[in-house]
Amino acid sequence: MGFRQHKFGSAGIGLMMGFSMSITLFFPSFDFRSGVSTWVGLDKQLSAGRLIGFSYEDPLVRGDGKPVTVILDKDPSTGAAIDPPIRAYVYKPGTPFSPGINHTDQLGLGVEELSVNVGKINDAKPGDGIVFTIVKGEFNGEELDYVENATAVRGWTVDKVLSSVGDDAKRFVGAGKTIYITEGCWWCHTLLPEETQDWQYFGTPPYLGDFNGEMPTAFGSDRKAPDILHVASRNSSREWMYMHFFNPRLVQPNSIMPRFDYLWAPIGKGPSDARDASGASIDFPKWRAEYMTYLKGDSIYPPDVPEPAADSQVRALVDWIMTSLR
Ligand code: HEC
Repeated sequence: MGFRQHKFGSAGIGLMMGFSMSITLFFPSFDFRSGVSTWVGLDKQLSAGRLIGFSYEDPLVRGDGKPVTVILDKDPSTGAAIDPPIRAYVYKPGTPFSPGINHTDQLGLGVEELSVNVGKINDAKPGDGIVFTIVKGEFNGEELDYVENATAVRGWTVDKVLSSVGDDAKRFVGAGKTIYITEGCWWCHTLLPEETQDWQYFGTPPYLGDFNGEMPTAFGSDRKAPDILHVASRNSSREWMYMHFFNPRLVQPNSIMPRFDYLWAPIGKGPSDARDASGASIDFPKWRAEYMTYLKGDSIYPPDVPEPAADSQVRALVDWIMTSLR
């Protein structure tokens, strides 16, 4: 009996392996373009730029070499008002492009045609410094969002766009998303509200086309903490985010989330470079001594959380949360 079961088992396994092998063999004929990029999908990949691999040695994985997302409420060339404001994705010379620019078929049917023929994205070369934006167009009677090379189409150069706005219009979304991945936030959080029971609190789930060209997808697998796909819609306070990242126990006394106070260091630098907005290095032992005094009840206020510097990792992380997670 046991032997017969064993024989049947190996035949069954052989069949299943044969079946999955044929899926693997036929898979290349599957048309990737059946998933057409949405605005969210285009925004995600343009703001993240090239996102690859899991090696900590790779500068791209440490948040360097990323585009800057700029919120534009006026045309950098003509000065005309843009209402509602739009996003421009600024790729300084040498910043690697996002996957859909390098491999346009990843954009999906219609989005590819519009982006190449009208948006002129094939004219863009990484060495030049390029500004992209997302615009609406029509393909076969359907309205689609597509990518435009705004440097070629509108004359928006990198310098023109960057000098037309203040610091608060610059969002280091790509670097911030990279920090989410390298810090392993996804061990606890998800970016994927699940069907039905989640929707009321965490909001709507993503569409298939939101993932075109995204690598890694980072929607997470296990949830020990709230889903944060739409966290900026329920909590838009940067102040709260900075307190929570510096020490989650400041706002949630029993939080299991780790401290991320070392993210006060500039992008690409290590924890020992943590400093505040004035450039002064942060005195962690002093801060903790004051915090302990507060925990013991000997002081009614916790110590202040240092203001992050404009080039800090935590600013980029909060930029990503506030700009992409809506
Ligand atoms: C050990 C698990 C864990 C890790 C790792 C973790 N978090 Fe959290 N996070 C939590 C928990 C639990 C909460 C719920 C509030 C609390 O307890 O602080 C939370 C809350 C949050 C919130 C607010 C969510 C809401 O619904 O208001 C944000 C935003 C957040 N975390 C971002 C991050 C980011 C970004 C990282 C990585 C840098 C990270 N977390 C790493 C456990 C974690």
